[in-house]
Order: sequence, then C-alpha cells, then structure tokens
Amino acid sequence: MKLEGKTALVTGAARGIGRGIAEVFAEQGADVAINDIDITGGAADDVVRWIRSRGRRSMAVQADVSDRNGVESMFEKVWKELGHVDILVNNAGIETIIPFLEITDEQWTRVTDVDLRAPWLCSQVFCRRVIAEGRKANIVNIGSIQAAKILPGRTHYAPAKLAIEALTRNTSAEMTPLGIRVNCVHPGFIATDMTSWIQKDPDILSSVVAQISVGRAGEPRDIGKVAAFFASDESDYVTGQSIHVDGGWIFK
Ligand SMILES: NC(=O)c1ccc[n+]([C@@H]2O[C@H](COP(=O)([O-])OP(=O)(O)OC[C@H]3O[C@@H](n4cnc5c(N)ncnc54)[C@H](O)[C@@H]3O)[C@@H](O)[C@H]2O)c1
Repeated sequence: MKLEGKTALVTGAARGIGRGIAEVFAEQGADVAINDIDITGGAADDVVRWIRSRGRRSMAVQADVSDRNGVESMFEKVWKELGHVDILVNNAGIETIIPFLEITDEQWTRVTDVDLRAPWLCSQVFCRRVIAEGRKANIVNIGSIQAAKILPGRTHYAPAKLAIEALTRNTSAEMTPLGIRVNCVHPGFIATDMTSWIQKDPDILSSVVAQISVGRAGEPRDIGKVAAFFASDESDYVTGQSIHVDGGWIFK
C-alpha cells in the first residue's frame, strides 16, 4: 500500500473526482479528511462511512476553501481529530460556461477565487503548519485539460487552470527544499456532476468520446490513481510537474 500511515485532506471531496481520490487514498492505506463547502446534505458523511468501512480513519470538515478563516479552522479541526496531515489535495473547483463578452466581474472573481486563489491559500496554510512541525509533506493540485485545450465560454476558468501549473512549479521551487513536494494532475473529461450535461446528451457525449484515444470518459478513480502516485514515495524524485490524465484527448 502506497500511502500506509499517511493522513490526507482532500478538498471538494463529497462527490466526483475528490471522492474518487479519497477512496483510492483510503485503499492505499491513508486516513482521509473530506472537505466540502456544504457537508449538511449527507454526501460527505457517505464518503466518511465508506472510508471507515475500509478500516481507515475519516472525518468531514466544512469550509469554503477560498475563505482564509474557514481554511485556517479546517486545518485546525483536522489536525486535532486526525493528527498531522501529510498530504493536501487541492481538488475543489467550479466551472461555469459563459461567453467572454457576458462575464461579470463577480463571475470572474468567484471562479478565479475558488479555482486558483483557494489552492494557493490552502497550500500556504498547510505548508506553514508542516514546516513549523519540521515534517515532510506532499501537495497535489487538480488542474484541468483546459490548461492546454480551448473550450468555448471558459475565458475565466481556463486561465485559472493554466495558472495552476505555474502555482505548482513555483510552490514546488520554494517548498521542495523544505521537504514538501508539489505536483499537479490535469483531468480530461471525467464522469462527474460537473460534466453531467455532456453525459446526458448522446450527441455531445459521442463527439467528445470520439476525441479521446482511450475511447471512454474518465472515472474519478483514474485521477485518484495518479494523485496517489504523486502523494506517495514512489514519486519522491518528481516535483513541480503537471500531467494530463485525459485518455489522450489533447493529443488526438
Ligand atoms: N469532471 C471533469 O471532467 C473535470 C475536468 C477537468 C478538471 N476538473 C476539475 O476537477 C475538480 C473536481 O471536479 P468534479 O468534476 O469532481 O466537480 P464536482 O462539481 O462534481 O465536485 C466538486 C466538489 O467541490 C465542492 N466545492 C466547490 N466549491 C467549493 C469551495 N469553495 N470550497 C469547498 N468545496 C467546494 C463542490 O461542493 C463539490 O462537492 C475541479 O477542480 C474541476 O475543475 C474536472
């Protein structure tokens, strides 16, 4: 098991890719804290139960990852209940599709706050704690295929996701000498609530899948497996990297 004895915090993990990452991490031996912006609906508790049923420790922790006070208190709660955290996965994200000429200041700010400033903020709060304890750790950022591929209506989302690559390599350059590696996974088309509008439309679905060399949509666990590699000692000479996990979409 790659992550035996490790504790991870996955943001936006009540569903979708975050849940897939949390499940793979638990199967690889990690205890996992499940963050989401709203944990009252039962979805986060369901993930917690799933992880506990595999013999690992887990907890749900509510926070808007773009809010500094919320992030500080999230890490405080997790550290208190599960002990020190070894792995942070910055997965929480939002995507809206709005033509360039129609985007408002508020829409731009919300997307860039959650998709770019929040991973920076969570990483900073996490690294300060880890360094103060003199421990080693790992950060995995979740970007998007849209760091490299143009899809319409994403002039706010795509720049935020491309910037995750720069955030990854610049944070890595400052933090790796202090014992914290930082890497990034760019998902392609993954079957989650975020992409349900594609999955529900047979014409759009078949046109997207036709562009994917592997010939299918990705599953959240496809991202989880690569995130687990980055979070484990198997990748101990890899840092500052971004990898596309997209079934070959951008290269077809
Ligand atoms: N699904 C895809 O095809 C795809 C492709 C490329 C990148 N991504 C990225 O992967 C990540 C996960 O996407 P997904 O498809 O699982 O999306 P999703 O919408 O299914 O799940 C996202 C989760 O994040 C939570 N969240 C949103 N804002 C938050 C906030 N401010 N604080 C805390 N939690 C918050 C949501 O409540 C939700 O549970 C996102 O960063 C997304 O941009 C997804």
